[in-house]
Amino acid sequence: MRVLITGGAGFLGSHLSEGFINRGDEVFVLDTGSIAKVRHLLDNPRFHYVHDSVFDLEILDGLIAKVDLIYHLAAVVGVEHYVADPYETLNVNVNGTQNVLKAAYKYSKRLVFSSTSEVYGRNPKVPWREDDDRVLGATTVDRWCYSTSKAVGEHFCFAYHKLGLPVTVVRYFNVYGPRLDKLDVGRLFTIFMGQLLRGADLTVVGDGKQTRCFTYVSDAIEATMAAGLKPEADGHAINIGSDVETTVLEFGKLMLELFGSTRSKIKFVSQEEVYGNSYEDIPRRVPDNTRMRTLLGCTPKVPLREGLARTIEWFRSENGRA
Ligand SMILES: NC(=O)c1ccc[n+]([C@@H]2O[C@H](COP(=O)([O-])OP(=O)(O)OC[C@H]3O[C@@H](n4cnc5c(N)ncnc54)[C@H](O)[C@@H]3O)[C@@H](O)[C@H]2O)c1
Repeated sequence: MRVLITGGAGFLGSHLSEGFINRGDEVFVLDTGSIAKVRHLLDNPRFHYVHDSVFDLEILDGLIAKVDLIYHLAAVVGVEHYVADPYETLNVNVNGTQNVLKAAYKYSKRLVFSSTSEVYGRNPKVPWREDDDRVLGATTVDRWCYSTSKAVGEHFCFAYHKLGLPVTVVRYFNVYGPRLDKLDVGRLFTIFMGQLLRGADLTVVGDGKQTRCFTYVSDAIEATMAAGLKPEADGHAINIGSDVETTVLEFGKLMLELFGSTRSKIKFVSQEEVYGNSYEDIPRRVPDNTRMRTLLGCTPKVPLREGLARTIEWFRSENGRA
């Protein structure tokens, strides 16, 4: 099988590429980013890296024409990016997604769209089922542009599905693992990891009681592959994630313990200090993952302690090499 992964040189894309390569498939990656996360795949004759954008319609058309399955992962991701550059977030996540869907429709190619738990916004009724409401803030607050951009992408997916395109939407809940973001930026793990390696304090935003459901990358990838391979997933939105809730404070304390730090401590900081005024944190973010278990046949297997230990080890050895 030939698989196109837009954004395939990113964190999830690099693991998804590996998953399909290991299955014996041929993988095409279309990404504007660096090769750092897929360097180990470049020598594989079944792996092809195209350094280009989903806005290059000719390249996109050529790739989609020759593959059997498309994963659309290319997006502007990460709080600091979508607060700093809402235009780029909306442009890539909405207009870029339309480009991919249009070409997929032209060639009738099955597509999996990567969405996010952020689409539920701050809906207080957890756990979130796929048909639950989206509860969001004002459009004058940049913080909501990522959630909205992904929800628009989902609407386009379902609109194309009505026109006959096989589409599945996957909504990820805080996936972490080796090759996540650069140290000190991006998501909670890499911010804490950068601080641990420098011997700095771990900055917990607010009182640290906000919860997340952390999902180890191998569990997320197993479900993502099933979403593209199982015909039953067609036409559905599916939450991808563990339903075990952990507070940000517990997460920080566990990282301190597993890293074995003697220098770092927990330091509470205000939200405004970190993100400015246009950010609003979500108190609880929990998936109902029944659909993932029943429709995709996937259950998260890697406990947080084990996944964190593996990820810390990976970042430690990478840092050592650098
Ligand atoms: N990791 C998570 O926990 C998580 C949670 C929710 C949603 N997601 C979604 O999963 C997908 C992958 O996320 P990730 O964590 O791997 O993030 P990532 O930032 O590592 O990957 C995104 C990739 O898209 C590429 N990209 C950006 N603009 C592009 C363009 N115009 N053309 C081609 N490529 C472009 C980037 O270079 C990057 O490699 C994203 O769509 C994201 O919204 C991830």
